[in-house]
Amino acid sequence: MNVLITGGGSGLGEAVTRILAKDTKNTIYFTFSNSEQNAKKIELDCSNVKSIKCDFKKELEVIALVNQIDSLNIEILINNAYVDNATRTHFHKIPQEDFTLDFSNNIMPTIRITQAAIGHFRKKKSGKLITILSSGLANTPPLGWSCYTANKAYLGSLVKSWANENIKFNITSNAVSPSFMQTKLTSSVDNRIIDQMISNHPLKKLLTIDEVAETVLFLTKASSHINGVDILMNHGNNIK
Ligand SMILES: NC(=O)c1ccc[n+]([C@@H]2O[C@H](COP(=O)([O-])OP(=O)(O)OC[C@H]3O[C@@H](n4cnc5c(N)ncnc54)[C@H](OP(=O)(O)O)[C@@H]3O)[C@@H](O)[C@H]2O)c1
Repeated sequence: MNVLITGGGSGLGEAVTRILAKDTKNTIYFTFSNSEQNAKKIELDCSNVKSIKCDFKKELEVIALVNQIDSLNIEILINNAYVDNATRTHFHKIPQEDFTLDFSNNIMPTIRITQAAIGHFRKKKSGKLITILSSGLANTPPLGWSCYTANKAYLGSLVKSWANENIKFNITSNAVSPSFMQTKLTSSVDNRIIDQMISNHPLKKLLTIDEVAETVLFLTKASSHINGVDILMNHGNNIK
C-alpha cells in the first residue's frame, strides 16, 4: 500500500507511520512541519518511509503537496496533522480572529489535500480516507478547547460526506476519535491534572498513541463495507 499521512513525524502520526512501515510492502509518505530532525530519524529507521516538508501555514507547501498526490500514487490518506495555536481559554475570551486562523490553518489544508486524494482515488476507483477526530465530539466538550472541538466537528461532518459521495467509487472514509493522549498537543496540561485524570479513569491509565495507531492500522486494511464509521476510543465513557 502507498500511504500518505499528514503530521507523521511526531506524536500519534509517528506511531502510525512506524506501525505501517513494519510491513515492508508498504510505502509510507508522511508530512512534517517542525519535526525535521525526527523525520530524518524515522527515514533512517525505516527504509520504506519518505518524509515531505509541508507546513499547513505555508500555502505554497500545501500546493506543492497537493500537486504530488497523483505521482505518489497513494491508496490511503490519513488526515492526522493539527496546527496547534493553543487558543485554549473559555470561548468568550478567544479573539475572533483565532477562529478564522485555526480554520484556515487546519481545515483548509485538509480540504485541499483530501480533494486531491479523492480526485486520484476516483480515477483508480479505489481508496481509503482515515481522519483523526477527537472524543471531545462525543463526550462533554473539554473546557477551553471550543475552537479545536468545533474544527474537529467540521471535519467529522466532512468525513461523512466523503463516505457518502464516494462509496460508488470504492472509496471509504472513516475516522478515529481518541480521548486524551500525552503528546505535544497536550503538553501544556498540568501534571496534577494528568494524575487526577488517571486516578479517575476506570482503567487507571490513559490512552496511548500506540493503541490509536493499532486502530488506524485496522482501518487501513478494513473491508470497504466499513464506511462512514467513527471509532470512538474513550473506554465507553458516554454509553447511553
Ligand atoms: N493528544 C490528544 O489528546 C488527542 C486526542 C484526540 C485527538 N488528537 C488528534 O490526534 C492528532 C495528532 O495529534 P497529537 O496528539 O499527536 O499531537 P502532536 O504531537 O502535537 O501532533 C500534531 C501533528 O501535527 C503536525 N503539525 C503541527 N503544526 C503543523 C503545521 N504548521 N503544518 C503541518 N503540520 C503541523 C505536527 O508535525 P510537526 O511535529 O512536524 O510540526 C504533528 O505531527 C491531531 O489530529 C489531534 O487533534 C489528539
